[in-house]
Amino acid sequence: MDDWNSPEFVVHFSRVYGAPPGDILERLAPLELKPWDRFIDFGCGNGSSLALAGRQAGLAVGVDASERQLKLARESLSGLPQVKLIDSAFLDFSWEDDPFTKAMSRRALHHLSDAEKALFFKKAHDWLAPGSLFLIEDAIFDFDRDELPLSMPKVLAEAQAYYGADWRKKRPELERCLRDEYPSGFPQWEKALACGCFKIVERQQKTCFYGTILAKREKW
Ligand SMILES: C[S@@+](CC[C@H](N)C(=O)[O-])C[C@H]1O[C@@H](n2cnc3c(N)ncnc32)[C@H](O)[C@@H]1O
Repeated sequence: MDDWNSPEFVVHFSRVYGAPPGDILERLAPLELKPWDRFIDFGCGNGSSLALAGRQAGLAVGVDASERQLKLARESLSGLPQVKLIDSAFLDFSWEDDPFTKAMSRRALHHLSDAEKALFFKKAHDWLAPGSLFLIEDAIFDFDRDELPLSMPKVLAEAQAYYGADWRKKRPELERCLRDEYPSGFPQWEKALACGCFKIVERQQKTCFYGTILAKREKW
C-alpha cells in the first residue's frame, strides 16, 4: 500500500495505466448504470471511473486507502455532488446507509490475499442489495495460482502481445504484482465470491492473467 502514497509512483502509474474516457465508458457498460443506481468503486484511485459513473448513477461512492489518490480524486470530482469519497481500507469499510445496487473494483482487490478476498466479499454481501451487480477487472488467472511458476513463460508472452508497444513500460509493474501481491486464479476468485453469496453471471479472460468477472449478489 505504501506505494500509493508516493507522489512519484501515483503519477507514474496514472501515466502508464491511465485509460481514455472512451475505454472507461466501455469498462462500465456491463453495469448498465441508471439514475436510480447507487454505485460503489472499491479502490477508486484517482477517480477516473467515478468521474463517468457519477454522471450516470444517482450516487457514486469511491473507497480507497491512499490519501494521495483520494486527493487527486477530490480535485477532479469536485463538481459532482453525487460523488462521495471514503478513506478506508477494504476490510475496515462499513456502510450503514441504503445498500448499493452496482459495484466495481478495477485492479485493486488483488491487494488482498485469498482469505482476505473471501472476508471482503462476505462483508460486501451486507453493503449490496439483493440482485445487485459487482464488476471486477483484475489479475484473474485462467489457471490455478499454484501453477504460476510453470505458467510464467506463457504469462510473459501473452503480456507482451497484449500490451504491444507499452510492454516495456508496463513490465516492471506486472512482474511486481505477480511476485509481491495476490493475483488469484479464477477458481480462487469464484470461491471468495461465493463466501458473500455472489454468483458469477459473466466472465471474460482478456489474457491468461487478466480478466473480468460480473457477479450477482444473491440471497443467503
Ligand atoms: C492499481 S490502483 C487502481 C485504481 C483504479 N481502480 C484504476 O483502475 O485506475 C489500486 C488502488 O487500490 C487502492 N488499494 C490497494 N489496496 C487497498 C486496500 N487494502 N484498501 C483500500 N484501497 C486499496 C490503492 O490505493 C490504489 O488507489
